[in-house]
Amino acid sequence: METRIEKIVHGGYGLCRLEDGKVCLVRYGVPGDVVDIEYGEGKGTVFGWIKTVVRPSEKRTEPPCPVFMRCGGCDFQHVKYEYELEAKRGIVKEDLKRLGGLDRIPELKILSSNPYGYRNHAQISFDRRGVFGFFARDSHGLIQIPDEGCAILDPRINDFLKKIRDRVQFNRRGSFRIRTGFDRVYKKGIPGVDDDKYCIHKVCGLTLRTGIDDFFQINRYLIEDWIEVIRNYIEPEKNDILLDLFCGSGVIGLAIAREVGRVMGIEGNGRAVKNARYNSQQNGIGNASFSRADLYGSVRDLEECNKVIVNPPRAGLTEGLIDVLVEINPQIIVYSSCDSSTFSRDIKYFLTRGYMLSDATVVDMFPRTRHVEVVGKLVRF
Ligand SMILES: C[S@@+](CC[C@H](N)C(=O)[O-])C[C@H]1O[C@@H](n2cnc3c(N)ncnc32)[C@H](O)[C@@H]1O
Repeated sequence: METRIEKIVHGGYGLCRLEDGKVCLVRYGVPGDVVDIEYGEGKGTVFGWIKTVVRPSEKRTEPPCPVFMRCGGCDFQHVKYEYELEAKRGIVKEDLKRLGGLDRIPELKILSSNPYGYRNHAQISFDRRGVFGFFARDSHGLIQIPDEGCAILDPRINDFLKKIRDRVQFNRRGSFRIRTGFDRVYKKGIPGVDDDKYCIHKVCGLTLRTGIDDFFQINRYLIEDWIEVIRNYIEPEKNDILLDLFCGSGVIGLAIAREVGRVMGIEGNGRAVKNARYNSQQNGIGNASFSRADLYGSVRDLEECNKVIVNPPRAGLTEGLIDVLVEINPQIIVYSSCDSSTFSRDIKYFLTRGYMLSDATVVDMFPRTRHVEVVGKLVRF
């Protein structure tokens, strides 16, 4: 049937309506498109797919990657970047309304940079024929990285992949990890090539060591701007005691440490904790300490502090952890999240515990994909 795409919603789908008014979600639908679709069955929202774009929206653009729509890596290469940002802001706003229960949402600022060549990290699969690439959308089929490289990867990774393509004997199935640090490409798992144990980054004047397998923010252009948003929201002062939860290798806490009295980082990955300690020592920071704890486990108490930063995985926080946090009565809590739905759910719980969202910024850490980072400032009301 022919229909019109109204907007882009959570998950990156285009939303349209069927003849009976039912909502149908269509991958790759762009607001303003008139499309001929097929759709599945279901009681509530149904999923559809585009057979033909009858009249393309003016928000469309030509995707630079020849395997876009087959590869599972990107969702929005066919949409003009200004509109992708607008759509992401709309999705976060909608989540805060619907899942966060907020009727007054602070103005959502948006921070972005070059939408291509930004990714400093990739997990690449290979097969016995030496084909390597990313998983296809919705399957484990392998989509080969085109000769011109992957459009969102740091060009240094693409150059490296070109070099190993003919030199390495891939005679089994597997995967390897590749990252770029400040100086070069770091790798693990390439057959016959020595593994790196660490990756070295330079961020906010610090030299930081992270484990090759451990978490590090993937957008090489936006890391410092993102930390600046967090820093502004935390309003650092000399007497502050700052708790950095889910601190990884310490990047946020260490970047702010010189402006506060003390930083205490907590993280579940023991290797990351060791690297955070190493990083504070190597950078001559004497007021930061790091410890290991399972923050999704039964955390009963946390050290006294007056300001907190939380940067959890997609799953967000637990009510138990929020209860413990609220118990220490911090003046400011800055919450950075890569999932606006769990972020909004948690904001709703914070509201029941006396904290409100005073400011928020959408940081487009993952351009051309449906993912986005949200940083929120919570204060007592
Ligand atoms: C989004 S990352 C943020 C890391 C760090 N703030 C950064 O920007 O590099 C989330 C971190 O949570 C940690 N994590 C995951 N599960 C955890 C748990 N149960 N307890 C404590 N930390 C956990 C991960 O190891 C990871 O370092």
